[in-house]
Amino acid sequence: MGNVTKKNPLKITDVTFRDGHQSNLATRMRTEDMVGIAEEMNQTGFYSMEVWGGATFDVASRFLNEDPWDRPRILKKLMPDTPLQMLLRGQNLVGYRNYADDVVIAFVHHAAEVGIDIFRIFDALNDERNLKTSIRAVKECGKHAQLCICYSLTEPKMGGKVFTLGYYLDKAHILQEMGADSICIKDMAGLLAPDDAYTLVAALKKTVKVPIQLHTHFTSGMGAMTCLKAAEAGVDIIDTSLAPFALRSSEPAVEPILAALRGTPRDLGLDLAHLLKLGDYIESIAPKYRDFLNLTRMSVIDTNVLVHQTPGGMISNLVSQLRQSNALHRLNEVYAEVPKVREELGYPPLVTPTSQIVGVQTVQNVLAGRYKLVSTQVMDYCYGLYGKPPEPIDPEVQKMVLKFYKRGQMPVTCRPADLLEPELDKAREMVKDFTREIGDVLTAAIYPITGLRFLKWKHGLEEPPPEVKPKTLEDVKREDELIAKAKAGQLVEKPSDF
Ligand code: CO
Repeated sequence: MGNVTKKNPLKITDVTFRDGHQSNLATRMRTEDMVGIAEEMNQTGFYSMEVWGGATFDVASRFLNEDPWDRPRILKKLMPDTPLQMLLRGQNLVGYRNYADDVVIAFVHHAAEVGIDIFRIFDALNDERNLKTSIRAVKECGKHAQLCICYSLTEPKMGGKVFTLGYYLDKAHILQEMGADSICIKDMAGLLAPDDAYTLVAALKKTVKVPIQLHTHFTSGMGAMTCLKAAEAGVDIIDTSLAPFALRSSEPAVEPILAALRGTPRDLGLDLAHLLKLGDYIESIAPKYRDFLNLTRMSVIDTNVLVHQTPGGMISNLVSQLRQSNALHRLNEVYAEVPKVREELGYPPLVTPTSQIVGVQTVQNVLAGRYKLVSTQVMDYCYGLYGKPPEPIDPEVQKMVLKFYKRGQMPVTCRPADLLEPELDKAREMVKDFTREIGDVLTAAIYPITGLRFLKWKHGLEEPPPEVKPKTLEDVKREDELIAKAKAGQLVEKPSDF
């Protein structure tokens, strides 16, 4: 017995059905295409599968004419052996504002009932008070509460004056005290450098008792290296996607990580041939979604992220806002303004919705003058309705922003949801003529416009528009034939003004 190195298989959360297509294909994967492979996915031996939450709720009801609650319900039946996981935006649930506690509690209970086992909960500001109600509800259901620390930077590497190793360790201890069953480092922008991952995970493993999971994105190109170093430092679980929906702004792919760790103490213990078969299936349905893939650049790496420490999605939003105002030439001014706005707003981590708040204000500062134009969202933020940012908001900026704010000029410091009246009865009232199902009530509570419109389609009160019709593989084939003909010069009918 020469080698006594203890085996400690690296566990895998597969995100193909949620973050994989959310990141690379605008969240458009339909439940029917998951159903085709669900039983095989269930047999893989994943620690868990992330299948719901984030943008999936919004997109399903807004663009796919799918009842968002059906997906976990259906998958649970087909995948009884694999814990199903969702991403919950704390008090924001699967929306973009704080909901009242009664909505949060009912949402978590219903999600548990339709099949969610692990609730990954985060708050954009890392304000743990915004996690409180959802943790309590998850515990009431006897489910697993995984609490996140959003990973953020103010300079190229961990450190500086806000996001230090100490900041992350303190947060982890607070979350553990609050009852976290595991802790996730949520690196939504792919900012975490491999050696920082090593330092951070090693320190967490030394002082935190609950399992540590790493969620990182490939975006900057560092993702797989970061996973490897985190594995060396003893991380318990990492998030990956099957290759077809991996890379770009999605997660690292599972297959090369499996191969890289084969025969080491962190060997995944999964079957590569099985994973490749799953990947083949995803390839077979993927053409239906190819229109959503960003093919404007050859590179699958967003090197901007390495320079600006800003999420890729936020950068593309900045570009499109500037384009709308015919001001794309001012992009460099915007890049220079982002860190200033962020500092003035108390260094929020940049993730939904804070990335939009900082992004929109930055563009307005450049185009209209600093804080001359301020959105309601920024006023709400400065008033304290999103919670407490890592550092205090610049008092001068806060005063400027709140000058004409309808709620008042004196910001609040309480847990934001303490200011909210119960909302569930209002939602019940909204839909009472055609449904009493709690899932429907919650859909209306969270999305009173697009959710309610979906419910009218669902209950036959309105006809869904043609654009929510799924694209089929036959459609793809027809397109391909037309493209091939055009390339071969066989399309004789060209527009007259060609
Ligand atoms: Co993510």
